[in-house]
Amino acid sequence: MAAGDRLGVPQHCTAGEIIFHETDPGDAMYVILSGLVKVSRTTEDGRQKVLALLAEGDFFGEMALVDGGPRSAEAAAMEDTVLVSIRRKDFQEWITANPTVAWGVIQGLSRRLRAANDQLMEATFLAAQERVVQTLRRLAGSHGEPLPGGGGRRLERPFTQEELAQLAGTARETVSRVLGRLQDMGLVRWEGRRLIWLGQTEEDPTEPRKV
Ligand code: CMP
Repeated sequence: MAAGDRLGVPQHCTAGEIIFHETDPGDAMYVILSGLVKVSRTTEDGRQKVLALLAEGDFFGEMALVDGGPRSAEAAAMEDTVLVSIRRKDFQEWITANPTVAWGVIQGLSRRLRAANDQLMEATFLAAQERVVQTLRRLAGSHGEPLPGGGGRRLERPFTQEELAQLAGTARETVSRVLGRLQDMGLVRWEGRRLIWLGQTEEDPTEPRKV
């Protein structure tokens, strides 16, 4: 069976659409052809933590296939997004027959564990303000484009203060306060609704597109 035969038809999601909810049962995983997907968990009182922003070429939804548990997080399209799905049985057959595919999946999982460890260290040891700075640094590295002439990095899309707060694991008010301070210090500026980060960036050591 060719790789393409295992893939479902491309699925179009509009911005804001929930692809699946946390705790849903899952029998398919997804590969992103274009767009942006937010993986998040929400507390009972409604506070959301974004675990990852995934983009073109990334996959998600593999955990429920591998361990048979429910969806460990919610996945939602942050902008218009195109996905292809792979069913559990096809995924299993595909990685069993293809060491290169299996190795790619292991690499992806290893990268995620590395990023999750970084987030755990930050949540444990950094104050909320520092987490916001760290989030901007990382976002500028993974979802920012360099401005010509080395004048900082512009985020690829506008991020609301609420979205930045969900990435940093803090309140929107804290983000607002920190952004004001960073602007005074000359570390951020705005181009329309898009933020330009003028400080140091933090790039993923293994791949440039992960938060
Ligand atoms: P699954 O548990 O099936 O559904 C939610 C998906 O979100 C999960 O599979 C992973 O693909 C993805 N996911 C969960 N936690 C993280 C994380 N920390 N970083 C990146 N992706 C994650």
